[in-house]
Amino acid sequence: MTLWVQGGFVGNRKPVWNLTQTRFSNDVPQIAQGLARWFSRSCGAALLLLPARRLIAGVMKILFLGDVMGRAGRRAITENLGRLRTEWKLDFIVVNGENATSGMGLSGAHAKVLLEAGADCLTLGDHAFDQKDMLSFIQHEPRIIRPLNFSKSAPGKGAALFTARNGKKVLVTQALGQVFMKRPFDDPFSALEPVFKTHPLGGLAQAIIVDMHCEATSEKMAMGHWCDGRASLVVGTHTHVPTSDAMILPGGTGYLTDAGMCGDYHSVIGMEKTEPLRRFITGMPKERFTPAGGEATLSGIYLETDDRTGRATRVVPVRQGGTLHPSAP
Ligand SMILES: [Fe+2]
Ligand SMILES: [Fe+2]
Repeated sequence: MTLWVQGGFVGNRKPVWNLTQTRFSNDVPQIAQGLARWFSRSCGAALLLLPARRLIAGVMKILFLGDVMGRAGRRAITENLGRLRTEWKLDFIVVNGENATSGMGLSGAHAKVLLEAGADCLTLGDHAFDQKDMLSFIQHEPRIIRPLNFSKSAPGKGAALFTARNGKKVLVTQALGQVFMKRPFDDPFSALEPVFKTHPLGGLAQAIIVDMHCEATSEKMAMGHWCDGRASLVVGTHTHVPTSDAMILPGGTGYLTDAGMCGDYHSVIGMEKTEPLRRFITGMPKERFTPAGGEATLSGIYLETDDRTGRATRVVPVRQGGTLHPSAP
């Protein structure tokens, strides 16, 4: 509906905006910003310094961290996440936990550790139920999201709406890709379509985060473009190596092909080097894979969104601690 109004004045000063032929359906934020500017001029220097836009539409600050790898990854999370939340004034934190327990899955006990460390939401992946207790734990812990297209009979949810620390709503969802994955999964694109239909960006959800969990960079990029304008962030997980292509797509979706892992990078994608090397060189397994235990790098992406539109306004790769070159907002 469009409501037309006639021009007018605010206060006893010159008009701060012209209301003539203002379309309320599209221009309410501009009117509100005009009011905020008039209010700040009338109420002293302190408010004058406050950007009018921030009075209307806040900036949401979100951190997404890639696959937590074993004990080293868990330790880096517990030792650093609280500090990062304070220092970077984070409103919402998502952590991928699919490898947090011995590199294979996430146990209920370790899910509690990551949540108590400050994660607001945990995503999983193809290893979602490698730890069998997750089959029941996820039914009582709504902060854990499993892949939307994992299996029709899988417990838990593939998408959920969260309330961030600033009171805004954040929708988190995860999809599994199909290319080069060990098991066949349903089409992730058609799995996500109903989620976007029921939660248009900037509607009920002020931010939408899509964790695209798959092997192929091409499939992740395709998903990024397909979601452009419908999600605040599409971030890849699963391959455990951060890519350097953090960007904002034309429709306002923040994008990163892979968040990397929160683990020891002196390793083969988080596993202690000896056994993977043996298998590559000889083709024969001898021992089990074990997560590397050196200092982990926290790796992922920092995102700022406009509450009013849900679109990304800033993306910064995150690398903290361990051996990778540091990067911070
Ligand atoms: Fe995975
Ligand atoms: Fe992983």
